[in-house]
Order: sequence, then C-alpha cells, then structure tokens
Amino acid sequence: MAEAVYPVPAAWAANALVDAARYEALYHRSVTEPEAFWAEMGQRIDWIRPYTTVKQTSFAEADFGIRWYGDGTLNLSANCLDRHLAVRGDSVAILWEPDSPTEPERRITYRQLHEQVCRFANLLKARGVKRGDRVTLYLPMVPEAAVAMLACARIGAIHSIVFAGFSPEALAGRIADCDSAIVVTSDEGLRGGKRVPLKANVDEALTHCSGVETVIVLRRTGAPVAMVAGRDVDWHAGVAAQSADCPAEEMNAEDPLFILYTSGSTGKPKGVLHTTGGYAVWASLTHELVFDYRPGQVYWCAADVGWVTGHSYVVYGPLMNGGTTVMFEGVPNFPDPSRFWQVVDKFQVEIFYGAPTALRALMREGDEWVKQTSRASLRLLGSVGEPINPEAWEWYHKVVGEGRCPIVDTWWQTETGGVMISPLPGATALKPGSATRPMLGVQPMLVDNDGTPIEGPGEGCLVIADSWPGQMRTVWGDHERFFQTYFTTFAGKYFTGDGCRRDADGYYWITGRIDDVINVSGHRMGTAEIESALVAHAKVAEAAVVGMPHEIKGQGIYAYVTTNAGIEPDEALRKELVQWVRHEIGPIATPDVIQFAPGLPKTRSGKIMRRILRKIAENDVSSLGDTSTLADPSVVDNLLANRPHLA
Ligand code: WT7
Repeated sequence: MAEAVYPVPAAWAANALVDAARYEALYHRSVTEPEAFWAEMGQRIDWIRPYTTVKQTSFAEADFGIRWYGDGTLNLSANCLDRHLAVRGDSVAILWEPDSPTEPERRITYRQLHEQVCRFANLLKARGVKRGDRVTLYLPMVPEAAVAMLACARIGAIHSIVFAGFSPEALAGRIADCDSAIVVTSDEGLRGGKRVPLKANVDEALTHCSGVETVIVLRRTGAPVAMVAGRDVDWHAGVAAQSADCPAEEMNAEDPLFILYTSGSTGKPKGVLHTTGGYAVWASLTHELVFDYRPGQVYWCAADVGWVTGHSYVVYGPLMNGGTTVMFEGVPNFPDPSRFWQVVDKFQVEIFYGAPTALRALMREGDEWVKQTSRASLRLLGSVGEPINPEAWEWYHKVVGEGRCPIVDTWWQTETGGVMISPLPGATALKPGSATRPMLGVQPMLVDNDGTPIEGPGEGCLVIADSWPGQMRTVWGDHERFFQTYFTTFAGKYFTGDGCRRDADGYYWITGRIDDVINVSGHRMGTAEIESALVAHAKVAEAAVVGMPHEIKGQGIYAYVTTNAGIEPDEALRKELVQWVRHEIGPIATPDVIQFAPGLPKTRSGKIMRRILRKIAENDVSSLGDTSTLADPSVVDNLLANRPHLA
C-alpha cells in the first residue's frame, strides 16, 4: 500500500504563522547561525535584565556544560501573568472542567489568577519557603495546581510535581530525594467518579521520610481528613490571611524552575531539572508554532500536570502566550466515551492535544460517541507521548476531525522540555505515524550501535547533535548521572533512548524505546523499577520485566517471576503480586501478565537475556535467536510451555 500523505490545507498554508518556505528558511538559520537566531527568539520573553550571552553549550566531556541566556534575569510567573494584565487582564486564562459534567465549570481570568498566585506565594513565604527551596505538589487537575506552580515560580522556589496516581511509597521517595520541606495536596482527588485519598497518601508517605514541616491541604471534595496541628494548613484559610501583593523575584536564566521525576533504564527515578530562561523561550515558542496559537483561541491539552506535557503545554506555554488553556480533571470515558467531544463543544475548543492511548480506547467504543457531538469548533489536533499507529491516526483525522484538521504528532521527552520533532500545521505535509520534521534549532541524527552517523534514509538510534534552549540541565543531586546517562553512549551527542527511521523525504518515524524503558499508556516506566518492587516481596526470588504489545496501552507490562524455594506459585500469589506493585509504585505500574518461571534465561556469566524474554512476551517465538550461550537452554522451553497470556 502506498504511504498516505496529507498535504497542508490551502487555508492553513495561507494563514498560518509559518508556511513551508518560512519553515525552511527559519530552520536553516536556526542551525547555521544559532547564536543570532536564539538571541532574536529570546526577545519573546520579558526580561528584567537583558541577556548579553546566548548559547554557551558543549556536550563534550572536556568542557561539558549547558547554559542559555546565562546573564539574563527574569521571572516566569510574571511572564505568565503580570505581562498580560494591561492587555488581557479580563480574558480567561484557565477554563476548568470538573470530573463530573454536572458540577459547574470555572473560568479564571488573568487578573484573578494573578491575585490567587500572589496570595498563595505569600502563604508559601509565610511557611518559610525561600528562593531555591523545593516544594512538592501532589494535586488533582484543579486550577490550584497551576496556582501553586506559578506561586513557586514567583518566589523562586523549585516545584516538584508528583503525579497524583503515584503511591505513598513513590511519593515519599521523591520528597526525600529533593529534600522538600513542604507538600501541597488536597483532601481527595476525583477521577472518573472515584475518589483518590490524596491527603491520606501524603500522611502515609510522611511516615517513610522526614523533613516535611508543612502540608497545605486544598479542599476539593470536602471529605473529612486528619489535620496535624502545627504541620497541616488549610489552603483557603491560609491564603485568606495573605496579601494579594507579591513582587516577583528576579531570577537568573539558569536558576532552577522545576524538578520532575522520570523513569530511566536503571536505578531509581531521576529528578529532571529544568531552569528558567531557556525553558521559557522553548515552551512558549514551541507552543506558538506547533499549535499556530493566537491569543483568544480556546486550547485544550488533555494531559495531567503531573507529567511534563502538563507543565509545558497546559500551564507554562499557553499562559506565556496569553492563551486560554482548558484544564480537565476527569478521564476520557466518564461518564461516557463522548466526554472529550462534549467538552470540546461546551467550550468551543479550537485546538485539542491528546494521547494515542486515549484515542485507541475511544476508537474501540465506536464512532457514535464522537458523532453525537458537533466538534465544529475544532481546527487542529495534536498527539503526544507515544507512537500513534496509522489506524488511530486515520480515525482521529477522519472521525474526530472530519478530515478538516491537521494532526501534529509531537515527539519529545521530559528531558527536552518541549516539542522536538513535529509538523507545523501550516508548513508540513503529514504522514500518519510520522512525527515528521525537526523543530527550529533541533538537529536530530541517526547513528548505528557504534555511533557511526547514518546519512539519508535509514534506521538507527536517535541522538541530538547540539543543545536547544529547553534542554534539561542536570539530574537533581547527581550531575555525573546526567552526563553518564545522556552524553556517553554516543560521545558528544544527546542520546534520546529512542529508535528511529528517516525516510527519503527526511521525515522521522519514532520506532520506540531501545533501552529498558517501556511506554505504558504514554507513561514512561523503567522495567528496573518494577523489578525491584517485585523482588522486594518476601516470596519473590527474582524478577524480569519487559514490554509487550497492548492494543490500547501501546505497551503492557509483562513480568517473569521466580519464587523463593518452597513457595508454590498460584493464582492467589499472582493477584497478591499485582496488588503489591500497585502499592509500591502506583496503578500505572500494574503488571498485565505475570509468568511464574522456575528459572530465567541467563548467560553463563549470569546476565539475563532480555531479548528472549521480550520475544516471548511479544509472542514472536519463531526467531528466538541464538540460545546456545545460555547457561541452561531448557529454561526457554519451560517459558514457552507456560505462557499465561496465551492460556
Ligand atoms: C518518550 C518520552 C512527550 C512528553 C510526554 C512523554 C515517547 C513521546 C512520542 C511521539 C513516538 C513518542 C518516546 C520518548 N514518545 N512522544 N509523538 N511518537 N514516541 O514524555 O514520559 O519523558 O517519555 O515517549 O519514546 O522517548 P516522557
């Protein structure tokens, strides 16, 4: 079958901020004259003291360092709020849709948001939070999550958001890693009609770590929660006593803005650190170009603020650009699978940005749920978080967008701060399944396993040859790990961990992770993390976790478990282990398959041969490859004979 190509619609080419010719010219300049190009792009931000240096970066070991706009000063909350007050103080900044459609929505103007942020910032200060301190946020998708982020940015505190689906254990690990003395949470969260006991989770987490002196509790559901005298503060009572005046701290461009924990191929989650100036330029520029965004348009990114997409494209990007950003508390299929499109109609959303996993789940429910809504307001659709299979792409395009809306398939990572490879709707012809072409200033390269560059069409490891302003600056508390993880696999290049193909038109096709990271419903999980959770169980001797194809989630979690001597594995233990992992990490880490195995395939030196485990999980067993180097080849026969997912 010939590859489908969707040309840029004429109206888009004529009216977009960037058309094809302009993209080529801008891209060329961005990589041939990066200093001048980024000096100019930096002007989109309000600086307190203008920068005189722009790009001071090196990926080489000898002079490794990443600094952008290094001597400039600014405040990001002022760029999201204060700068808009004169022109659009009364336009809606946040349009909030609650979990239940029967509860009223909230519309918060820039002026109101500014006031709430100032009061909350003053509350943080009153609780002793100073510039550089870490503030952990464990909140549902409510406007106060954005208020808390912006309040931190206003006073120079570093926020660390922990997704509200993580367990108390996972939360405790993240609080301890960044020595956070304050946690902001709510009584409960609400998702799909279910209550999540966030405050109780915080209380449990705090029994596993020390140093937290303040817990601020937002009332969301009003459920009774235990309040510890002296430590716990009610959000609304706390802010009521505060002034609405809070000057924005003058921050250096390279002062930290936030930490966000993400999974890697080894060890515990890494605290990805982003700084202020370069991130501001990158998040606002990519938001404007990828979505062709103009103030006044209603824009909805359906991500949670617990992930980087929520940071850059629910809060910071749209607010820097003076936008109206929709925040949705709920889930795509509650109360029914029409919810996304009902909200689109209700708010007259023009731009919708979502994840393939949600689209696949909705696609399975049938077109009627979509067709009973109008969606006439939609102009542009986006996809993020994992590869979108052409079938889901076509459905998104034809059924949701009625063939009218371009789809921007955006490839990027927590580490990259913003979109790296993506179509621009007025510039790029689309190919379903391809993230297409690089963003301005981004120099993707494909290399083979030895690091030899692959020119022209081909497939290899995706690396980025030079720095861009939104790049992460370090792993919190472990700069060496930052360098080792990203810059040593292929010396002098940023290693993404993804495999990728480039076609004859120079289009990039992400093929998925090539390290021990799996992508479950757009959520990134380290297989090593799930393994260590499993082996922490008293009955488990050994565990190996790999990804398996999953129709809705993209990848599912397949765990091979060897029990301790004398333990007879059975259905009850399987259930117990599933619950155990949910408890240790959170529901997003729930194993889809647990296969009990008397032994795992190992080399004579004791290394687990994951390649074989992956093939078995993928049910691709005709080509297991060379098993002769295994210490005990019969282990494989046992694994093949006892595959539970085929039972
Ligand atoms: C990994 C990063 C992008 C921000 C949210 C996830 C995969 C992401 C795409 C895409 C194919 C994608 C990659 C990447 N990924 N977007 N459009 N096409 N794969 O951020 O949790 O840091 O995960 O998600 O494998 O490395 P993250």
